[in-house]
Amino acid sequence: MLQVIIIPILPLGVPSDLERYFYNREKDLKRLKNHLNALNEDVAEQILITGYRGVGKTFLLKKMLNELPDNILVSYIDISRVYGNQRGNLKEELIMQYLLNSMNEALKDSSGKLKNIYNTVNHFLSKISLKKYDFKEAGNILGVAVPEGRNDYEKLSKFVMEFPQKVVESSTNIQGFVIVIDKFQLIGELENPSSFFWLIRSYTQNQDNVSYIFTGSVSKTSEIIQMINGQNGAFGGRMIQVNIDPFTQDELQGYLNEKVGELKFTEDGFRRFYECTRGIPAYINSFCNTMSSGEVYNSEKIKETFFEKMDQITVMWIQIWGTLSIHEKEIVISIVDKGPQKWNDLLKTVPVSRNTLAKYLDILKNKGIVVFSDQDGYKIEEKMLEAWIKHKKKVNGYYPP
Ligand SMILES: Nc1ncnc2c1ncn2[C@@H]1O[C@H](COP(=O)(O)OP(=O)(O)OP(=O)(O)O)[C@@H](O)[C@H]1O
Ligand SMILES: [Mg+2]
Repeated sequence: MLQVIIIPILPLGVPSDLERYFYNREKDLKRLKNHLNALNEDVAEQILITGYRGVGKTFLLKKMLNELPDNILVSYIDISRVYGNQRGNLKEELIMQYLLNSMNEALKDSSGKLKNIYNTVNHFLSKISLKKYDFKEAGNILGVAVPEGRNDYEKLSKFVMEFPQKVVESSTNIQGFVIVIDKFQLIGELENPSSFFWLIRSYTQNQDNVSYIFTGSVSKTSEIIQMINGQNGAFGGRMIQVNIDPFTQDELQGYLNEKVGELKFTEDGFRRFYECTRGIPAYINSFCNTMSSGEVYNSEKIKETFFEKMDQITVMWIQIWGTLSIHEKEIVISIVDKGPQKWNDLLKTVPVSRNTLAKYLDILKNKGIVVFSDQDGYKIEEKMLEAWIKHKKKVNGYYPP
């Protein structure tokens, strides 16, 4: 008898067909929507969303933004896009330009006054890309008085920060503006990230219809969390902090049944699969894509597949590894190779100066890759990254370059 074997194809990024692939997250969606609906009552909440890499923050946000009512405008920027274009040299000014561009795009399909704003700001944006700043026309149509005698960045940031509230005030149909800043941990690489957060805070304080959502995979001990929302941070603990958790075993079961029902697991095979992926959708999807319906997966088979297809399952890390600097890689490899280390040990095992070590450890913490614990010192927070690096060494004989 001919057996038809199905090999699932689950998305590795955020798919454009949101509905087809999205699973559950009912509670998170409801909670976020409630916070944003307060915009209708002129109450603007500021939100910080954290969670492991690949846990589904971006997918969740896209889904949520998609479901907001028409009287709330939405805009989304991904700092890694700004960062990528700058080859690692991130500048405030460029973030502001991206922000304005993305906020303005939210007006693209509108009519009347909002359409006029859209056209005027579009024209303004085309000029700043030529390094010509001329705030007169754009400032007038929005009613933003751009101060004379300041430098271009100061003028631009004032204009951009006032933009969303002014837009809401320009239209009786619009009640709020939601701005998502994704991969915000990369803001940590600005020369002065703290002042960037304080700048945003200084405007949001007086804006009743603008909600910012910052999101990224940062470790809870990272200083960027302190900077943005710690006691002495810009938002001083007033941001609403939401952590997105990995799928529970039950959720994983439901997800697999719904999306890839053709895959067959034994009970211990399923448990092993959960242990390997830790309930993180990015790994669940890439793991599933290496499996086939012609097999019954028991614990042994899952383990075997996991090591055999490691490169495919950890594909996310191959791409991220390529964005790390030489010093970041040296630190990570030293920790993987020699285990968790205290500061003084790291100084001996990584060939860099004190200052350089301090700087790159901070960056790695902000990226959620390294975490500090009083007990062990610095260790790798991302277990899958550690597994991948060890695997590379075993297979190739050397650590990934
Ligand atoms: N609720 C969900 N239902 C189905 N698939 C999901 C869900 N959440 C995430 N995924 C899948 O998991 C993968 C990772 O999701 P996503 O990119 O949103 O993670 P992230 O938390 O934003 O990661 P990063 O920190 O790297 O930005 C994507 O392929 C996405 O399709
Ligand atoms: Mg994301």
